[in-house]
Amino acid sequence: MTLDPAATILGLETSCDETAAAVVAGGRAVRSSIVSSQIDLHARFGGVVPEIASRAHVELVGPVLAEALTDAGIRLGDLDAVAACRGPGLAGALLVGVSAAKALALVAGLPYVGVNHLEAHLYAAWLEQPDLGPPLAVLLVSGGHTLLCVMESYGRYRVVGQTVDDAAGEAFDKVARLLGLGYPGGPAIDRVARDGDPDAVRFPRAMPGEPDFSFSGLKTAVVNHVRAHPDGPVADVAASFQAAVVDQLVDKLAAAADQAAVPTLVLGGGVAANSLLRARVRALAEETGRGVFLPDPALCTDNAAMIAAAAWWRLGAVGPTPLDDGVDPTAGLVGAR
Ligand code: KG4
Ligand code: ZN
Repeated sequence: MTLDPAATILGLETSCDETAAAVVAGGRAVRSSIVSSQIDLHARFGGVVPEIASRAHVELVGPVLAEALTDAGIRLGDLDAVAACRGPGLAGALLVGVSAAKALALVAGLPYVGVNHLEAHLYAAWLEQPDLGPPLAVLLVSGGHTLLCVMESYGRYRVVGQTVDDAAGEAFDKVARLLGLGYPGGPAIDRVARDGDPDAVRFPRAMPGEPDFSFSGLKTAVVNHVRAHPDGPVADVAASFQAAVVDQLVDKLAAAADQAAVPTLVLGGGVAANSLLRARVRALAEETGRGVFLPDPALCTDNAAMIAAAAWWRLGAVGPTPLDDGVDPTAGLVGAR
């Protein structure tokens, strides 16, 4: 399909606990981006409750997409396509965004584009750095995913490593809960760790020399440590845990970039907001003479601008998605090998 390079796309993201809508022109220029977080609804449960998430998406999707159109100063009929995240994510939550996008596409006679959430995280980098070019080594770390891949060209990815158990953000959230630091745990641990000694406890660095990740043994080591030292300083445990996670992430990213001789490193996903991880990846790039791109934390966490950006590329390269396409809660990275 020949796509207008300036095609303007409305993207919707409802895969987990953020209801988001954005209007992006040409896959790069963000004209509006609205993110309504449900963190407050889920905080007292210590994690996302799927049924509550779906109901909140139903209530929020209309107002959020209306605000995105108003902010962008564009009417539905002036868009070139409507896109939504089709997976991976929570089935009920995904259905809300996908159904809304299809309904709008049908009403306005526009193409619909179903977007893979993991691919969208990769495209977030282009929203701030339009001339970033593949090949890139991308580490995508969030509450739901831990994925290390080499983006060889647009739409073509080689998965190097994934988690064999918990996602990195999930480990942050579980350990924060154990330490009584609240939800979401990543920002809380990041904050508390600043006053702690990262060498106070030597927690395990899992699966050294292997491309895959593991965090559940580390979580158990923290549980055992806290049981044995119930009155120990929380800041030291938080800093030591964070150091163990970041060591594992950075070592594997370094090995993948070396092996594939990739000149540029990119981070994505909510954990990419972690201050130690950002500092260590910057240092790695400097030491090895590589380029590095660390997106703004607002583009690292779930948002709809990344959905519209990935949709622009997918619409041009592959074309619209049929309206009978459903959601895929367990989808892997599309285009991966
Ligand atoms: O990408 P995201 O918003 O949603 C998912 O797709 O999961 O990521 C949320 C995850 C949560 O687990 C949260 O604790 C973690 O990102 N996170 C952080 C930080 N900020 C958010 N983890 C470590 N350090 C942070 N500063
Ligand atoms: Zn995500």
